[in-house]
Amino acid sequence: MRILVLGARGQVATALSHAGSRANMEIATSGRPFLDVARRETIVKAIMDVRPDLVVNAAAYTAVDAAETHWAETFRVNETGAANAASAAAQANLPLIHLSTDYVFDGMKNAPYVESDVPAPCNVYGMSKLAGEDVVRAGHPAALVVRMGWIYSQRGRNFLCSMLSLAREKEEIAVVDDQIGCPTFADDAADGILELAKAIVREPLQGHLTLHMAVPDHASRFELAQEIFLRAKPLGLAATRLKRIDSSQFPLPARRPANSRLSSEQLARLYDVRLPAWRDGLARCMSSLARNPAGFA
Ligand SMILES: NC(=O)c1ccc[n+]([C@@H]2O[C@H](COP(=O)([O-])OP(=O)(O)OC[C@H]3O[C@@H](n4cnc5c(N)ncnc54)[C@H](OP(=O)(O)O)[C@@H]3O)[C@@H](O)[C@H]2O)c1
Repeated sequence: MRILVLGARGQVATALSHAGSRANMEIATSGRPFLDVARRETIVKAIMDVRPDLVVNAAAYTAVDAAETHWAETFRVNETGAANAASAAAQANLPLIHLSTDYVFDGMKNAPYVESDVPAPCNVYGMSKLAGEDVVRAGHPAALVVRMGWIYSQRGRNFLCSMLSLAREKEEIAVVDDQIGCPTFADDAADGILELAKAIVREPLQGHLTLHMAVPDHASRFELAQEIFLRAKPLGLAATRLKRIDSSQFPLPARRPANSRLSSEQLARLYDVRLPAWRDGLARCMSSLARNPAGFA
């Protein structure tokens, strides 16, 4: 089975390549400058070159704070790009998995979000990703939208790498304790996406489906940082002191949802896909990072 992944160097795209080798699947990634999702013809060309069985759209504008002041570019990638991915895949009669985010919700719910909850994004990135979901459903007859949250890996712009980099410069880091979510190792998300890919190539969807894919448990940003530094020292990575604060003491350009928890019950029920607990994923990611610390440098 051959999969074309749009967005070549991102956390999830990279993890999908590695997961493909483990699962004996052929993964072709394509990204800038050759493939720009906002230019439909570049997706059409990639589909013709690769001749995949399925397309995964992992390309996105993910700079949440910069998005507040870069509306046009954010929507160009996350809405127009998503529409192009949907219509190009549909034209080639290919199934599509489109990746989306917990940030389509405002975080006011007092429990994990389920697929039937009504989205209400509280920042520009979330609005653009919600717009992307809508155009994907409009442009493809049977797309699978997979929402994930708090992705990290050994490289790239993510909470784990930021914490480890800051620890090399600061004796103390202030971390918010009033945002909770489902910290998810990109490798675990990639394994789950490939399971879904196999399932929908085997048995094509008859219409649109949205699924949440996250770890079964959750943590606050502060708890996640605590666990990172608990593990950092024995692995020979930089560690530092932590100070617990709340979001009002750490203003950022984009508002963040207080509750980013996603329920993956539907994913388990329909496809028997279950991600490992967050501490388990973090342990594996950090061990791998310690073996190759250049990844986050
Ligand atoms: N990171 C998270 O915490 C998180 C949480 C929930 C959901 N998600 C979603 O999961 C998906 C993958 O996220 P990620 O963490 O892997 O993101 P990422 O590491 O920021 O990677 C995004 C990729 O998209 C590519 N890209 C941006 N604009 C593009 C364009 N116009 N054409 C083609 N490629 C373009 C980037 O290319 P360059 O390498 O050229 O910059 C980058 O490789 C996204 O849909 C994201 O919204 C992420």
